[in-house]
Amino acid sequence: MQFGYFDDARKEYVITTPATPYPWINYLGSKDFFSLISNTGGGYSFYKDAKLRRITRFRYNNVPLDLGGGRYYYINDGKEVWSPGYAPVKKELERYECRHGMGYTKITGEKNHIETEITFFVPLDFNGEVHKVVIKNTGNSNKNITLFSFIEWCLWNALDDQTNFQRNLNTGEVEIEGSVIYHKTEYKERRDHYAFFSVNAPTAGFDSDRESFLGTYNGFQNPDAVLEGKSKNSVADGWSPIASHSLELSLDPGETREYVFILGYVENDLEDKWKLKNVINKTKAYRMMEEFSTAEKADGALKKLADYWEDLLSGYTLVSRDEKLNRMVNIWNQYQCMVTFNLSRSASYFESGIGRGMGFRDSNQDLLGFLHQVPDRARERIIDLASTQLEDGGAYHQYQPLTKRGNDEVGGNFNDDPLWLILAVAAYVKETGDCGILNVSTPYDNDESKAAPLADHLKRAFDHVIHNLGPHGLPLIGRADWNDCLNLNCFSLEPGESFQTTTSKDGRVAESVMIAGMFVYIGKEYAALMKKTGNETEGLRAEKEVHEMEEIIMKYGYDGEWFLRAYDDFGRKVGSRECKEGRIFIESQGLCIMGGLGLSDGKAVNALDAVEERLGTKYGLVLNNPAFTKYYVEYGEISTYPEGYKENAGIFCHNNAWIMCAEAVVGRGDKAFDYYTRIAPAYTEEYSEIHRMEPYVYSQMIAGKDAKRFGEAKNSWLTGTASWNFVAITQYILGIKPDYDGILIDPAIPKEWDTYQVTRKFRGDIYRITVNNPNHVSKGIERMSVDGKEIVSAVIPFAGDGRVHEVIVTMG
Ligand code: BGC
Ligand code: NOJ
Repeated sequence: MQFGYFDDARKEYVITTPATPYPWINYLGSKDFFSLISNTGGGYSFYKDAKLRRITRFRYNNVPLDLGGGRYYYINDGKEVWSPGYAPVKKELERYECRHGMGYTKITGEKNHIETEITFFVPLDFNGEVHKVVIKNTGNSNKNITLFSFIEWCLWNALDDQTNFQRNLNTGEVEIEGSVIYHKTEYKERRDHYAFFSVNAPTAGFDSDRESFLGTYNGFQNPDAVLEGKSKNSVADGWSPIASHSLELSLDPGETREYVFILGYVENDLEDKWKLKNVINKTKAYRMMEEFSTAEKADGALKKLADYWEDLLSGYTLVSRDEKLNRMVNIWNQYQCMVTFNLSRSASYFESGIGRGMGFRDSNQDLLGFLHQVPDRARERIIDLASTQLEDGGAYHQYQPLTKRGNDEVGGNFNDDPLWLILAVAAYVKETGDCGILNVSTPYDNDESKAAPLADHLKRAFDHVIHNLGPHGLPLIGRADWNDCLNLNCFSLEPGESFQTTTSKDGRVAESVMIAGMFVYIGKEYAALMKKTGNETEGLRAEKEVHEMEEIIMKYGYDGEWFLRAYDDFGRKVGSRECKEGRIFIESQGLCIMGGLGLSDGKAVNALDAVEERLGTKYGLVLNNPAFTKYYVEYGEISTYPEGYKENAGIFCHNNAWIMCAEAVVGRGDKAFDYYTRIAPAYTEEYSEIHRMEPYVYSQMIAGKDAKRFGEAKNSWLTGTASWNFVAITQYILGIKPDYDGILIDPAIPKEWDTYQVTRKFRGDIYRITVNNPNHVSKGIERMSVDGKEIVSAVIPFAGDGRVHEVIVTMG
């Protein structure tokens, strides 16, 4: 069952009922100011950091779900009250439509012959959310209506806002000037930032005190002021400051009115702070209002936003015979990659914006998906990440985006973390050719006195693995590797200590075959990067280390039919035929094979067959099997989850991509693509009532076959699934891989495919690559030509002339 449809021409998903199985959201913003917006207008905004600079309030855990806060509009036509976006009044509309597009959301609601269309967006380089409201009288008699707006301020720090009521209920301060409501709580103290909510028209009234607007015992669905049809003109003084305007309109039949509301955020410079004391400097706010003083100006900015996205998405475009595949590759997967770049794992309808900053491993992997869209910003992100790295090569697991500093509370000791930095940098250099990044002087732990060239950071990341080997010569897992919940050192808890807060202690020896596989896969990338950039000695050293690890994996890390997952702290196998539960895990199969292990002796194929047989389901591949049915203190958090959820045998979509890549590496394009379609959102659309999450973006997890709610997804949007699935489809399946000297062509596709075309922008050139498959093979290239000339290698040499090049690939 579907709740909408894709409008590919406009790059939109069109939701046709407010009763989606879960709030289906979108993100607004591309740089500093961001908003989450659901299909009925729910959600919130923040500046740079969802925890430290929250602008509007949202209640997670709210009942009902999506009425925790939002930008809400109300109409009172003298007879009835409704919300054009359905929420919060929830009165049935005669027509409802929500179009989630690239960086904007347009919600249209019609009732009693009044059609209201609201376009929400954050313009480029603008610290605010613009709402363009168009109201039309579609009837044949005159209409007199009152339109109310509403937002609720958050007192900046989202955590404090939810906990420190004894103080916060006394601090709220606002200022009203014409049609503008300024939020200046704590301005006295911080003297540098404030927010405002404005409309470009005279108002009939306003409210800025929540209780006055709603009434003490009413909710968002029935505010006193709206029911009465009249604002109270309340000025907040402590309690809960809000901003609401009311506008009285008289509309002739067919008449249309347009308004522009702005939810803006202003930061003043230091000089102002001291000069202006408690008086807010409104210069910037006035400028922002002037920028959007008319609906035409808003349209102009929307056009610019569309051009911006058109350009970002044009880096990789596919024309194939599969419409769903085209829309994933060309639109939604790339869009989600940009969102994960911007937000990491901080703010979604499943991530509160409070708990987590930017993850080290997460951000490095996210980079793989957006790099080709914004290489300059990828460069900046790499330096930010490397600047939080520790001197011993390890990493803080997370950092706060506002301060860019490592977050001590979360700690480090996730021993996979450092390796992802190498993968990100290698991918960056292949994409851009910018080897100079390796010379950028980059601090350790944000301490400039401890700066060294980025290349040194990579070396230390690589050596961090070698310096932390366990009894079998495999890498120590530390607190956990990519699988946060596989906590193999946690049995050592002191009484009363909880596994979530414990880091692995000295002397703990659990080892990870997954990190070993990563070391081989990423170590080869490291060696190649070193050799390419003239450091032959380091390249050879790395190759030798990788080779040794390969031998160790094949000796201690392969269990007859598949790769083991780990050794626990007692030296017992994890993910082995010998285990009763958790006999096979997905991660080590994917990464070891991506690293090239087991290719010559059939071991890789055996492992992949075991994956299919034991982990395969119609909704994707589960993480492990059999699921853990009880708690094992020696395995940790993984066994705390009920069977089939999250890391305990859930379908973790992130690592499904590694199996797609591995299948491509062994040349089984049919299987690779089959796995792709099992989890790619456009293919889940038709059973949205089971999947429940947005059919236009990946979710982190889909409940596995052992779960009561098999097939139901959770944690949509912010997941490494986005970038890895983009890598799997574009590089491993469609086989267009950026490389140091050009683009490597190496498809692994379903045999029945005849042809497809990819247009790839690459360092300023454009390559139009047509892949023909007349012999219906999965892998292998018979011949290739560039601009009519046959070439012998599988790499399209980088031309560097800024021109379009025609590439014809014949598989066979
Ligand atoms: C979740 C993991 C997540 C981790 C983050 C765990 O509870 O299951 O998916 O990576 O928390 O800290
Ligand atoms: C989500 C986390 O963000 C990511 O870092 C981790 O690898 C996966 N969960 C698996 O545990």
